[in-house]
Amino acid sequence: MPFQDNRQFVETLQKTGDAVVVQKEVDWDLEAGAIARIVNETWGPAVLLEKIKDYPAGYRLLGSPLANFRRVAVAMGMSPETCFPDLLEEYDKRLRKPIKPVTVTKAPCKEVIIEGKDVDLFDFPAPMIHEGDGGRYIGTWHILVTRDPVTGWNNWGMYRVMLYDRTRMVGMLDPDQQGPSIVYANYQRSKKPVPFAIAIGADPISSFTAGNFFGRCEDETGYAGALRQAPVELVKCHTNDLQVPAHAEIILEGEIYPDIGLTEGPFGEFPGYSASPRRTWPMYRVTAVTHRNDPILTMSCVGFPTDESHIVGSLGKTHSYRKKLLDSGIPVADLFVPPQCGGMLVVVAIDPPYPNMARRIGKIIMTGRLPHYVIVVDGDTCVHDMDEVMHAIASTCHPVRGITSYDRDVGSPLVPFYTMEEKKWGVGAKAILDCTFPPEWGKEKTPRKMNFNRGYPESIRDKVLKNWKKYGFK
Ligand SMILES: Cc1cc2nc3c(=O)[nH]c(=O)nc-3n(C[C@H](O)[C@H](O)[C@H](O)COP(=O)(O)O)c2cc1C
Repeated sequence: MPFQDNRQFVETLQKTGDAVVVQKEVDWDLEAGAIARIVNETWGPAVLLEKIKDYPAGYRLLGSPLANFRRVAVAMGMSPETCFPDLLEEYDKRLRKPIKPVTVTKAPCKEVIIEGKDVDLFDFPAPMIHEGDGGRYIGTWHILVTRDPVTGWNNWGMYRVMLYDRTRMVGMLDPDQQGPSIVYANYQRSKKPVPFAIAIGADPISSFTAGNFFGRCEDETGYAGALRQAPVELVKCHTNDLQVPAHAEIILEGEIYPDIGLTEGPFGEFPGYSASPRRTWPMYRVTAVTHRNDPILTMSCVGFPTDESHIVGSLGKTHSYRKKLLDSGIPVADLFVPPQCGGMLVVVAIDPPYPNMARRIGKIIMTGRLPHYVIVVDGDTCVHDMDEVMHAIASTCHPVRGITSYDRDVGSPLVPFYTMEEKKWGVGAKAILDCTFPPEWGKEKTPRKMNFNRGYPESIRDKVLKNWKKYGFK
């Protein structure tokens, strides 16, 4: 059965050795974040913190819910041992058949209802995640639901949200993203605050879908249903018409005021640094909170890889770039967005290589802010093996003719190495590294890779592999 919520998910993760439940009291102020940080930096298990300092029994915090591919596979009902190519294939297969959500009227997320002056966002153990963060972040693994009033399209997105006071929050709402663009367009038309709902602690795949990129007007709820192989159950919010996953732990309802700015950040960001200055973003005013009994808040300890932002981005972008290149007729042998590089770098293997292919690939992939590096290798190089990729760069990419760089291109304001001025205006540099030998060198002039596969005839390779144990190797 697909997981309805994180409670069932953690139970299964405990059985597979992919979650640890901590009974010892943990402080929401940095200690919880530091634990999740070690988990992320060691590809360790998810962590359910059962006792949070200053909070009543039952108010829990789940850290690093989907910070590796093992947990994504489990969330999709697959074995944690599933290798990335198999995970990608299944992901692709499932997304081809969206499963529409169903609407329910009774929902666990409404076990407790708090409205108006009784709302106090500090009721939940929102963590101070990293030293130097601008505040306590209640939204780092959640779903922001907004509706485009023109098309009626409901968007799911995930954009960090910081507590400001008992009823107000503030978060990054970058107009380049779809949820924020709905908010700004909506406000421009109506000059009224824009209704929102935030679902915290939905089932793992629904949250994954919110943090993943899908096209405009594409229904993320249908993709979530497809990935979990069962419809998502949605329920109408208590105070507005938006719908949220019925089994989520906590629902925040209210309005976003694009004309009222509050200061937010800094925050540990996905490139692995706290690099953006504190600045103003639109205010969220929360007018109602509903939650389950003994709610579980969720936390992605975003920062140095690898956390959910890298894992979700790696699977989602590997899938979408691959499709984009294949649709353009590029002979893609394999493609990988390594989670270690946080979406800033893509490795593409092509077979056979054509002249100037790397630049074509770079231009097809680098249309947005990220990535800023595209590395093109031959079909012999394993794009999942960073040792092989590093070897390809060092041995095959000509330091002058092999690198094509563009300055003053579209850039992400979060990229740490851009200047403050570049970040402000969203401009930056990009580069394509061509790690293939010129096809015109032909077979005779192209250096032969001296590895096991290329350095020996098939008959010898077969013989050696067959006799491997007989030689005395294990
Ligand atoms: C854990 C996590 C945290 C994220 N934090 C942010 C964020 O703070 N701001 C942002 O613009 N995008 C953030 N993202 C990326 C967006 O959620 C992602 O681009 C998604 O596609 C947004 O939905 P949209 O395409 O409907 O706008 C985050 C993703 C994940 C998985």
